[in-house]
Amino acid sequence: MNDLYDRHRAVIPDWVALYYRDPIEITHGEGRHVWDVEGRRYLDFFGGILTTMTAHALPEVTKAVAEQAGRIIHSSTLYLNRPMVELAERIAGLSGIPDARVFFTTSGTEANDTALLLATAYRRSNQILAMRNSYHGRSFSTVGITGNRAWTPTGLSPLQTLYVHGGVRTRGPYAEFTDERFTEACVADLEDLLGHTRDVAALIAEPVQGVGGFTSPPDGLYAAFRRVLDRHGILWISDEVQTGWGRTGDNFWGWQAHGQAGPPDILTFAKGIGNGMSVGGVVARAEIMNCLDANSISTFGGSPVTMAAGLANLSYLLEHDLQGNARRVGGLLIERIRAACAGVAAVREVRGRGLMIGIELTEPGTDRAAPDAAGAVLEAAREHGLLIGKGGGHNTSTLRIAPPLSLTVAEAEEGAAMLEAALREL
Ligand SMILES: Cc1ncc(COP(=O)(O)O)c(C=O)c1O
Repeated sequence: MNDLYDRHRAVIPDWVALYYRDPIEITHGEGRHVWDVEGRRYLDFFGGILTTMTAHALPEVTKAVAEQAGRIIHSSTLYLNRPMVELAERIAGLSGIPDARVFFTTSGTEANDTALLLATAYRRSNQILAMRNSYHGRSFSTVGITGNRAWTPTGLSPLQTLYVHGGVRTRGPYAEFTDERFTEACVADLEDLLGHTRDVAALIAEPVQGVGGFTSPPDGLYAAFRRVLDRHGILWISDEVQTGWGRTGDNFWGWQAHGQAGPPDILTFAKGIGNGMSVGGVVARAEIMNCLDANSISTFGGSPVTMAAGLANLSYLLEHDLQGNARRVGGLLIERIRAACAGVAAVREVRGRGLMIGIELTEPGTDRAAPDAAGAVLEAAREHGLLIGKGGGHNTSTLRIAPPLSLTVAEAEEGAAMLEAALREL
């Protein structure tokens, strides 16, 4: 154990968990690699929790940040802010939401908190539908819509939340159904639930559950839900904090896998857009966004430096078709990972799309979570020079793989080989 770890423990809350028995201090990065304080190089398959979206130390982003910081770092929302307006215009255009307005925050939590504020004010109700196994942030309101025990430090809540079934395809009472029957059963359950409630404000859902272990419903489930919600006037909030910007390969936004429904009423984003600079935000059509009848600001939301980073990062992503890269290289990576997992008794399921891949581990031959096995693979992968993540509502036993979207074929092959070696040591 190193001295910094002792100092960390002495001053940082216990509930801020660190990975690894001997935690890593990362000092720098480049491309898809990072280096620790001892000079060891790692291939980064977690991107600081899906946040280093394009690449580490991307020169375009670094330059934009440095130039903007050299001009002005902060002016506040009281004055016109060119980078903020430019990024808002681009995100509004990309969102698919008509007559869109964009409000910038500094985190995904604050983005979802804002979405809840808007939905509850617009609908004059504090009832929210959320998905079981969901994660939406750490604030008092977002913890109240998080259907994942491991991330719910309090049962108290300003909201009345009802948890809907459907976010986890291969567990629960409908797991054995075909996709079609699964969707029908979840819709019937939703209809039944709504029969016992009144004036629900919104449904919030991650198209692919991130912290929950990269689980998702069959494509089209949220379109089917939407038809029911529309009949009740209930809004649909798509939490794109992990799934946005092309990470899932097939689509730019996760909601597009349910595209028949059209865009959500409210979309939230964060993580990848700033490539590590703190950018989050909410998109909604004007009627909803402008329903608040009092002032509201985020002092740091939309700050010029973070907006300059977002603009440079988004331009790079689009100009280099990183969504296409996520689809192509992600397709190859999941194939390699499936092959690596073949014959590993603890692997229950390999799932995901694009560069968002989960490997769920259980005690061999059972459905019981195997968090110790997940921890062991994480440690072994690190020894082989690969950083990966963990998650899963069922006791944190899903390995999570989400490299920067610029991952090359050679790096995908190399990472899969390191992962295979780590899995074989189980
Ligand atoms: C889907 C989702 N929503 C919201 C959040 C909260 O974002 P932040 O940690 O930036 O507050 C996260 C963070 O992991 C997330 O995965």
